[in-house]
Amino acid sequence: MMSTDFKGMDVVSIRDFSREQIEHVLRLAEKMVPIAKGEERSVMLEGRILGTVFYEPSTRTRLSFESAMSRLGGKCLGFGEPKVSSVAKGETLADTIRMIDSYCDAIVLRHTQEGAARLAGHFARKPVINAGDGAGQHPTQTMLDLFTIRKEKKKIEGNHVVIVGDLKYGRTVHSLSEALAMFGAELTFVAPPNLQIPKEHLKAIEAMGHKPKISSTLGEAIKDADVLYVTRIQKERFPDLAEYQKVAGTYRIDMPMLKDVKPDLIIMHPLPRVGEIAPEVDATPYAKYFEQAFNGVPVRMALLGLVLGGLK
Ligand code: CP
Repeated sequence: MMSTDFKGMDVVSIRDFSREQIEHVLRLAEKMVPIAKGEERSVMLEGRILGTVFYEPSTRTRLSFESAMSRLGGKCLGFGEPKVSSVAKGETLADTIRMIDSYCDAIVLRHTQEGAARLAGHFARKPVINAGDGAGQHPTQTMLDLFTIRKEKKKIEGNHVVIVGDLKYGRTVHSLSEALAMFGAELTFVAPPNLQIPKEHLKAIEAMGHKPKISSTLGEAIKDADVLYVTRIQKERFPDLAEYQKVAGTYRIDMPMLKDVKPDLIIMHPLPRVGEIAPEVDATPYAKYFEQAFNGVPVRMALLGLVLGGLK
């Protein structure tokens, strides 16, 4: 049995967690919902400071971490873009992390480079939480995605999850696909051949005894989906813009596409979206992406409580 005592632990990759540990986070997150909504008050993290260090743009991850910390009575410092920090003068990641480490009790880091959060963990004495490292991983997004599926479908196991879009550069699907396999979901990956799920993740999923379906078309897969997880083509990660333009707009979920879907289908998206889901879909009962984004607050509250020692 693995420990559910996370105090002082870095949160870098979903592979660092067992199913039992993730389930523990999800259970605690459920208890955090009334506090996340402002219906109940908590001072669990009063006097604690969270550093939010973002080398890449973010709306949901940074602000939901800041909301989570504030709702628990703590405070935040940091920067939302490196231009306003001494990174712009050439300061290294190592020195920046050493400094923030001395000003706060935990660090949330988003960086352009895969592996940056793991590296930061070596320079920080306080816990480092990976808020997305290049095309690597986004483990706290995965936890809120699992929380959303479990809330909406009552369980994760046995659901057919169709993941569509940019599976090569989309870090959210790298962590999510492995976690879904760990929880016993059935997987279909839909992407243009040059943006399919990387072999590293496919092998990890197959090693868990799963045989995911791989396709470049959504038409048939969507009819049998319990969960449709849509992702943005990650323009910023393409070395060649011409290559991006060839695949931009390949998949778009609109009302005609939803004609033959299961009545209890849920549609998720880590957001931001840039045209993958037509706005008219927002008003359907399938659309769960805004609730999904809110779920980041209670899930991150649970994680902060665990790594800072307020929760067990
Ligand atoms: N899902 C997500 O990571 O959103 P942001 O880029 O806005 O943080």
